Amino acid sequence: MPTIIDGKEVAAQVLAECAQEIAELKSQGITPGLAVVLVGEDPASKVYVSSKVKKCAELGLHSEKIVLSKEATQEEVFAVVERLNRDPTIHGILVQSPPPPQIDEAAIVRAINPAKDVDGFHPENVAKLALEDSSGFVPCTPAGCMRLLAAAGVETSGKEAVVVGRSMIVGKPMALLLVAKGSDATVTIAHSRTKNLAEVCRRADIVVAAVGIPDFIKAEHIKDGAVVIDVGINRVEDASRKSGYRLCGDVDFEAVADKTHAITPVPGGVGPMTIAMLIKNTIKAAR
Ligand code: GUN
Repeated sequence: MPTIIDGKEVAAQVLAECAQEIAELKSQGITPGLAVVLVGEDPASKVYVSSKVKKCAELGLHSEKIVLSKEATQEEVFAVVERLNRDPTIHGILVQSPPPPQIDEAAIVRAINPAKDVDGFHPENVAKLALEDSSGFVPCTPAGCMRLLAAAGVETSGKEAVVVGRSMIVGKPMALLLVAKGSDATVTIAHSRTKNLAEVCRRADIVVAAVGIPDFIKAEHIKDGAVVIDVGINRVEDASRKSGYRLCGDVDFEAVADKTHAITPVPGGVGPMTIAMLIKNTIKAAR
């Protein structure tokens, strides 16, 4: 039987550490503050943004939610970011991805003060991650995946890891974390154009799936005894649910789980870790 890696439990541990650090900072008169910017009406983004703000409130952090319409201009988003850059009560700024198509996301990310870039998307923080300079911010989802691997006691040193997906948010930073000193995995980044993907994945002791396609990773992709981290949070229609949809990962859990040594479920795997690591980064920014 595989180990089902419980992201809710590990996230609760991270948040318990955070609560202590927050109390310490508050005793020094500092309340960490996070601003979350939502542009447009993407339904998943709306849910994520609300849960980030809710978690801040639960932990006694200051937070601000800024919602701009789906017709917002680049200048309007810039103006919000510049105001937040100057606001001394705000230590972390996050612009939820993806924004509507008229917004140049890369330009917005570059406009965020790198010292407040709790997403770790600014080029300065990307460079620090590549340079293994720990003064930067590490993107929350891959940082959460690393923490899950550690919590499950997974040895990464010398192991073959395959990251499926090359996004700025997950795939590329995940690969950098796995290959970094101390983690020491041998890393392949695969993506939609990779030839013989199943064969490439079957080499892996650790598979990280971050492609955004429901049930994409099947039994043929997984070596017996591998560890599988499923980053996908996909909405698939389900008329039997009140909401009309259910959440499903990038990994076909039913087909894959029994082959694995350990696997993360969806929901309840990587998802809760992303918010926990965001809170951790916000505390770091406040420090
Ligand atoms: N969209 C999906 N994941 C993330 C994330 O970690 N940060 C931001 N800003 N947008 C996202």
